[in-house]
Amino acid sequence: MKKITLILLFFLSVSFGKAYADEGMWLPMFVERLNYVDMQKAGLQLTAEEIYSINNSSIKDAIVGLSNGPTPSGYFCTGEIVSDQGLLFTNHHCGYDNIQKHSTIEHDYLTDGFWAASLAEELPNPDMSVSFLIKMADVTDSVLSVVNDTMSVQDRSAAIRKKTGDLRKAWSEEGKYNVVVKSFFEGNEYYLFVYEVYTDIRLVGAPPSAVGKFGGDTDNWMWPRHTGDFSIFRVYTGPDGRPADYSTENIPLKPKHHLPVSLDGVEKGDFTMIWGFPGSTDRYLSSFGVDFNLEKQYPAIIELFGDKLETWKEFMDADQKVKIQYASKHAVTANSWKYLIGQTRGLKRLNVKEKKEFLENDFSAWVAADNERSKKYGDVLSTMAKGYEQMGATIEPMLYTNLAGMGGAEIIGFAMEFNSLKELLKPIDKKELPKEKDMAKKMIADRKEQVSTTITGLKEAVKEHFKDYYAPADQKVLQVMLEKYTKNLAVEMQTPVLVKMLDKQDGNLAALAANLFANSIFSSEAKINAFLAKPDLKTLEKDPAMQLADGFMSKTMELAGGFRAAQASLAPAKRLFVDGLRKMQPEKVFYPDANSTMRMTYGSVQDYIPADAVHFDYVTTTNGIIEKEDPSNDEFIVPAYLKELIEKQDFGPYGVDGKLVTCFLSTNDITGGNSGSPIMNGKGELIGLAFDGNWEAMSGDIAFEPALQRTINVDIRYVLFIIDKYAGATRLIDELTIRKSEPKPIRTEAF
Ligand code: ARG
Repeated sequence: MKKITLILLFFLSVSFGKAYADEGMWLPMFVERLNYVDMQKAGLQLTAEEIYSINNSSIKDAIVGLSNGPTPSGYFCTGEIVSDQGLLFTNHHCGYDNIQKHSTIEHDYLTDGFWAASLAEELPNPDMSVSFLIKMADVTDSVLSVVNDTMSVQDRSAAIRKKTGDLRKAWSEEGKYNVVVKSFFEGNEYYLFVYEVYTDIRLVGAPPSAVGKFGGDTDNWMWPRHTGDFSIFRVYTGPDGRPADYSTENIPLKPKHHLPVSLDGVEKGDFTMIWGFPGSTDRYLSSFGVDFNLEKQYPAIIELFGDKLETWKEFMDADQKVKIQYASKHAVTANSWKYLIGQTRGLKRLNVKEKKEFLENDFSAWVAADNERSKKYGDVLSTMAKGYEQMGATIEPMLYTNLAGMGGAEIIGFAMEFNSLKELLKPIDKKELPKEKDMAKKMIADRKEQVSTTITGLKEAVKEHFKDYYAPADQKVLQVMLEKYTKNLAVEMQTPVLVKMLDKQDGNLAALAANLFANSIFSSEAKINAFLAKPDLKTLEKDPAMQLADGFMSKTMELAGGFRAAQASLAPAKRLFVDGLRKMQPEKVFYPDANSTMRMTYGSVQDYIPADAVHFDYVTTTNGIIEKEDPSNDEFIVPAYLKELIEKQDFGPYGVDGKLVTCFLSTNDITGGNSGSPIMNGKGELIGLAFDGNWEAMSGDIAFEPALQRTINVDIRYVLFIIDKYAGATRLIDELTIRKSEPKPIRTEAF
């Protein structure tokens, strides 16, 4: 009896003792006010000032957003600075596109990995940028001062756009900083973010895909996982330490803070904290929105992505060169495809729509209980219901036009890129020419100049496009996408351009695709370069790929009106819904949806129970790599030398008792964009890199499921083992600040 009470007490204390919430992506500037006490209780050992400070170096100074271009407003992944020489860790799948761009049959870094032996060998990545957050500020009052409740949706967004533009300018210090203003809680609050952006980012190291992408698309979004999902870059600055574009004169960044690395590893229940740039969540989505996604939006996307992937794969499997060319495009599409399948399944299995309906019923009752509330919020739910219904009625043709048409075969999107040239090549209308002769001459000369700069730009685009392009694969994609387009859309919803083309081919889509590729200048680099050497309007106008692209474009314009109007009608309802929910539950601390701004989430290392009678442990080890090995399946190949190290248990300082941990689970609340984020212990030391979510909780972006939702992290000891023992890149290990605690004293039993 006593024993039972003790056990019961133990379980109660486990569930109640964990007072701290794992759910929530918190804004670092509010950490002290909202989370600090809770975090301390849970195991954080740093001061609030050490984790977020504007004046002193703090954790936030080691966390960066990865993007392309010098003025990003969003980030595709997260990275962290790990040395005083600007060394940066992120995921392999975040560096993948750049690793792929550097890869050829001769230097296949995707297959073999890449390790720069010195600074001089580190490879520049012209598009890539890294953003450091300097500070953030609440600008809600300032932004909302320019709007009122009687404004139309359009006037409201125009006023806000103007105001945020002014704010960005005012805070940029003459262009020194990239300033971004973002809406929070569906437009109820606004925050401003000041970033310093570095544009000389070099590739330092990457494991082979057999490590960095081990398990491939089969294991993606799933646990148990054995993936070494990391890659290494370095941030460079001008000789003066300021951001600068690539130059051989540039030097490694001297960061304000870099994360120390801990070799202590994890145990169940340990405090964990993850910082990064989560891209987007929809936690306040209504039941109508869930329904819309499930019934109207996802099925078509899943179908089209699936077909495209299958077609690409056919050509990739047949030719190693094509495999390298399409590796990144395939991985990105496959990732979204599986995400949508998993989310659909999760939303249904976890009855998310019903849970949302419960909340909406509470909301209705709360609104009805008070006259003022009824006036303000009375129409919210009915407006949403109507808005989603209207969107549902118009989305199908939009989706097929966009995903099977414009964004289907690459040749269509590529032709679109020549639209501005087409406009510029049109003769200037006599009526537009100034009367004054000199002015008229100048206008004509200016136009010539514009044509020539546009052509220079296009020549670059052509090179980039054809490096990773295989026309026969794309021709097949065109055929397959148009099959879906014509099958799913009534003729009057299709672009007449296609209807006519197809008529000429007696309805044969294979013949249509073959004909289009044979006659378009956009299907080969030689043809398009010959055109650019002597461009003329007529060639562009009669090009079949261009004609089809134009056809899809005008159809989109035609369809977009109704869809956008419905979408716009939702904006005020969504804003009021979130506002009302917050007032209805005044004791609850709300966190904002992810929107590609820096967030912090804290939780602990935990296992989970994915299904009745199934228990998933919270760590995996290299033993699982050997168990999963399958030399006949390229997703599960184990490099010979890795296998040798594992079999000899030659783990160096990274293993414990003949085992090496590969990945571990934590309860942190993350989403896409967090990839590459550091997971830290209570001392702010790096213990791993977050890289995925788990299959059983794929509805997590819409509803957080505490019992099921886990973050999948690669253990930093596996990362270091690969760098050190597998690749022998010891110069990188030497740069890190590595910490290891003395072994813990043996604990005396509690009972
Ligand atoms: N699911 C991960 C994410 O969205 C990406 C994992 C990439 N790995 C892969 N096998 N495609 O962040």
